[in-house]
Amino acid sequence: MRSSKLLIAVSVTALVLCLGLPSFAADGAATFKAKCAACHGAEGQGKVGPALKGTSKTADEIVTLLTTGDEGKKPPHKKAMGGLAADDAKAVADYVKSLK
Ligand code: HEC
Repeated sequence: MRSSKLLIAVSVTALVLCLGLPSFAADGAATFKAKCAACHGAEGQGKVGPALKGTSKTADEIVTLLTTGDEGKKPPHKKAMGGLAADDAKAVADYVKSLK
């Protein structure tokens, strides 16, 4: 009896944490692997695209590049990247900044 109440309390707490903190939902590492690694390398070491680890760009600049694009850049960054929600862009930018 006691332990099942505890189990419910733990489940409810976990659910509240998941729903209440959407930033946890956006997984920067997973997004990077799915949408960036093909061109920038699994470790951000660079491939078709330039190396991203140790980039001088700030996380905010990366978010802007991904969500609005930059006319002066080559594809795919001339335009906003498709299928990337704002919180995904933020998470992946933070992930890029964490690469060393
Ligand atoms: C189809 C290949 C491709 C994909 C996919 C791609 N990129 Fe790029 N990326 C490039 C190329 C090519 C450049 C260089 C563009 C230029 O300098 O004109 C670039 C440039 C960049 C730059 C600027 C680097 C600098 O120092 O100026 C950042 C930041 C970046 N990409 C982040 C990402 C992120 C994050 C993702 C995933 C959400 C991603 N890219 C997906 C090819 C790609």
